[in-house]
Amino acid sequence: MVLIAEELSPAGLALLEPDFEIRRVDGADREALAAAVAGADALIVRSATTVDAAVLAAAPRLRVVARAGVGLDNVDVEAATRAGVMVVNAPTSNIVTAAEHAIALLLATARNIPQAHSALKRGEWRRAAYTGVELQDKTLGVLGLGRIGVLVAQRLAAFGMRVIAYDPYVQAARAAQLGARLVPLDELLRDSDFITVHLPKTPETLGLIGDRELRLVKPSVRIVNAARGGIIDEDALDLALKEGRVAGAGIDVFRSEPCTDSPLFQHDSVAVTPHLGASTHEAQEKAGTQVARSVRLALAGEFVPDA
Ligand code: NAD
Ligand code: MLT
Repeated sequence: MVLIAEELSPAGLALLEPDFEIRRVDGADREALAAAVAGADALIVRSATTVDAAVLAAAPRLRVVARAGVGLDNVDVEAATRAGVMVVNAPTSNIVTAAEHAIALLLATARNIPQAHSALKRGEWRRAAYTGVELQDKTLGVLGLGRIGVLVAQRLAAFGMRVIAYDPYVQAARAAQLGARLVPLDELLRDSDFITVHLPKTPETLGLIGDRELRLVKPSVRIVNAARGGIIDEDALDLALKEGRVAGAGIDVFRSEPCTDSPLFQHDSVAVTPHLGASTHEAQEKAGTQVARSVRLALAGEFVPDA
């Protein structure tokens, strides 16, 4: 039985339905998940389902956990490996979509689009209040020059931005090939006009951008996080916005999700979206079909190649 704990694209479903019994559960409901996973051979999730040791212990038949997306921070990969459960994801399925969303948030913060949109819909024609800033000739700081960070850097270079990046795991020559200059974190914070976060959530990156870091940035900086909540400390960002040490932010991801109330929502200069970074039809179709293929291979006992 294949247990689907979050939305899966129709194309992905079509690859499984002919050969497997499909059941659905709300992955955010821990009790229901623990009950349903007891009979599952495969479990398919996105980011709202936590697959930890307790869930794995409740799943004696489980052979594969498939993450229909990139981040594996909601799956305890070590516990799964100890239990002999394979973990697969769809690491390239939504990278263009996520890069485009980060750029949309960056442009929204540069030109005050959400604020002006809301004001005009309230009947307020306020041109002077919403004067923005250009991207051309500005410095873009990319935190994490991986799959998505590279796509963002390449696209924003075409806007005439100078790109610097912080990523200790990338070679300077590779960064130079991509038109980016690698710099230490503090230099990136001091020099950037826009900062965009594309790091995985790990013990190393959680809270990486905290109060100390936000005291190094230019007061005109706009910061985007469409990676994972908690990499930028939300309380530190709230304080920096209150004290005028950060000009604006575009935030797609939150420390705890779903997030329907946050001090960040009080700032007019903050544009927010509810973890929509991967939410396009194209990305969901790719993620759904990639994980469905991997689940088929895993349940057939075959080698599962990197997607
Ligand atoms: P990736 O693994 O390709 O790239 C991550 C980069 O971060 C790598 O180059 C790595 O070297 C670097 N890195 C790792 N630890 C670091 C550290 N401590 N300091 C500096 N650099 C470090 O990942 P990706 O596919 O580009 O995804 C980036 C992030 O975006 C992930 O958190 C992923 O979960 C998230 N994401 C979010 C959405 C969304 O819906 N908002 C969609 C897709 C991906
Ligand atoms: C991801 O890591 O792929 C994203 O967070 C998107 C998601 O699965 O919702």
